[in-house]
Amino acid sequence: MPCDMLVFGGTGDLALHKLLPALYHLHRENRLPKAMRIIGISRKVLPRASYIELAERHCRAQIEKKDFIESSWLSFSQRLDYLAMDAAQAADFSRLTSILKCTPEHGCIYYLATAPHLFESIAANLALTGLAGANTRIVIEKPIGHSLPSALNINAAIGAAFSEEQVFRIDHYLGKETVQNLMALRFANALFEPVWRAAHIDHVQITVNETIGVENRGAYYDQAGAMRDMLQNHLLQLLCLVAMEAPVRFDADAVRNEKVKILQALKPISGLNVQDKTVRGQYVAGQTNGHTAPAYYFEKNVDNDSDTETFVAIEAEIDNWRWAGVPFYLRTGKRLATKTSEIVIQFKPVPHSLFSDSQANLLVIRLQPEERISLELMAKTPGKGMRLEPVKLDINLAEAFQDSRRWKAYERLLLDVIENDSTLFMRRDEVEAAWQWVDPILSGWQQHYQRPRPYPAGSNGPEQAHSLLERHNRAWHA
Ligand code: BG6
Repeated sequence: MPCDMLVFGGTGDLALHKLLPALYHLHRENRLPKAMRIIGISRKVLPRASYIELAERHCRAQIEKKDFIESSWLSFSQRLDYLAMDAAQAADFSRLTSILKCTPEHGCIYYLATAPHLFESIAANLALTGLAGANTRIVIEKPIGHSLPSALNINAAIGAAFSEEQVFRIDHYLGKETVQNLMALRFANALFEPVWRAAHIDHVQITVNETIGVENRGAYYDQAGAMRDMLQNHLLQLLCLVAMEAPVRFDADAVRNEKVKILQALKPISGLNVQDKTVRGQYVAGQTNGHTAPAYYFEKNVDNDSDTETFVAIEAEIDNWRWAGVPFYLRTGKRLATKTSEIVIQFKPVPHSLFSDSQANLLVIRLQPEERISLELMAKTPGKGMRLEPVKLDINLAEAFQDSRRWKAYERLLLDVIENDSTLFMRRDEVEAAWQWVDPILSGWQQHYQRPRPYPAGSNGPEQAHSLLERHNRAWHA
């Protein structure tokens, strides 16, 4: 179906660094609808040619040289257009009607790559201008709100203008290949299902560690912190995929029905319990990648007295039949020693050990920096006697599929929006259930206030995050 895409916030970081490069790749591989136009929108007054120049500069910097084909860029740039308008002004929306044709035969996709406070007014103004008809879709980015009440308001305002089927709430982690591979691993291999439960799993770890700081996003981040920026969305989505029951079909509603059940089964953490089950940290000056990094509170646009957390670790539990009593340890932070995103399934030891050096099996699903799945098994070392050591069954997904280009998350997700498939997008009730669990933790932090624990930039996070596991004789996977 032919359609156009409007990118509100068209000159912002998200549009220039992620969306346009992803759309270029889709164009180069002939996956975009034939005459689809991509129209950047922002308040800046810019001629179309300057917008194309700006887009080209950023795409060249983001896209690998071998993939940046001049002729493809030329034809891609013919799709690009630009409109200067103020998305907060209702009157400006009438200008869209002259450039768009949203009809039953021609769709319009609105990508809101803007600050979240504009979501509600943009949705309302699109509807008022008659641009929210059946063949339109709206894409919004996480975080949806900063608390349950604000998420309810955003969802209600978007829901007043668009039906739920028209709304695509992006969490780019769901577009990552290894995250989707998690579903393949669990539901396309009979091997794991019998052991994927409390009887055989000791605990689960979900880690998303970053080496970068807040870059030029200090103003946003200082209001959000690691909990709202990463844990409420990316980490909880990963937790859902690890823990959910097999959906009856691989389609949007069946998958999301199962995810939402997990969010609803998360055991509440509130009041004084937050001190026992959660750790907040904030980086102070240190060394990362051989450079001195300043303390968080000296970053640009961050309050010098800020107590925003740049690290969070939580011991979560899922109160259901499959997972009762299995801790899910979640942690994420900025300016840590290494960039690592991984899910670790720590199995229980064998029920009766014949060998003194036997260790429990470990399954590591690594999302970043490389995509791999590795299963640690015990094996006998060569020679006399029975000395055991863990060995790895290790699949590097990039090598296993070396003939295929690895898609970036936004490529996959943008194509899904164009093809109207919302399986990998968050449904309204999912977002609300996630906030429902997160809000009491945020209020617990306020009621029983403690400053975030300091950790040096370039370290492995605050000591207390390690104690969270050590007190149960466990340790974070190194
Ligand atoms: C974004 C967060 O959603 O995810 C950023 O807002 C974070 O703070 C980023 O850096 C991490 O994404 P990725 O794909 O680099 O792991």
